[in-house]
Amino acid sequence: MGSGTGSNASALCQAATSGERTYTVELVLSTAPDAGICEVARVENVALEVVPAALKGEEFSNELCTLLEKYQIDVLVLAGFMRLLSPLVLACVRGHVVNIHPALLPEFGGKGMYGIHVHEAVISAGRTETGATVHVVTEKYDEGAVIMQTRVPVLDDDSATSLQQRVKEAEHRLYPEALDLYIRAHWPDHVGSASIADGPQVS
Ligand code: GRF
Repeated sequence: MGSGTGSNASALCQAATSGERTYTVELVLSTAPDAGICEVARVENVALEVVPAALKGEEFSNELCTLLEKYQIDVLVLAGFMRLLSPLVLACVRGHVVNIHPALLPEFGGKGMYGIHVHEAVISAGRTETGATVHVVTEKYDEGAVIMQTRVPVLDDDSATSLQQRVKEAEHRLYPEALDLYIRAHWPDHVGSASIADGPQVS
């Protein structure tokens, strides 16, 4: 689910049909009918549902839950989705909601830390390294357990935009891998065993 360009959704869809993945992509959800992620659904031949952005609060949550149940979704994967999710939505998929963030959480996360702002903050702080984090979603921004992280260098001549591009490329490699790890940990009988209980994995 997202409302952006959908490059991570695209990477997840493509990875799902190549190699030994643990998951299939059953549905793309968006809150913006003209967002790039909707085009990804069409190109990848995946069902698309648009939950109107105008829906707020309980109405939004109820609509989302109806769709998650209709498509029998086990894991809700966020990629470029900006709103906080209610306890109702989290419960609807038994807490199996994951997100990707374009920095090494817990640094450069939280309210207001999204999109280009994250990379501007990393450069302003003079960091020589940043990265991306896949984490479990809770009712707060960027606070759930880390599933997997990857590191990305910050180069001397980087702008926020060039850094964003390098981090995005790393995200596309990280997200399918992290999702596999998460699924193996939670459905060991289905796909073999793995554990995320030992803490975050950094690659
Ligand atoms: C990614 O950078 C992700 O980390 C953040 O939102 C962005 C979505 O980009 N949560 P895209 O729509 O997948 O290209």
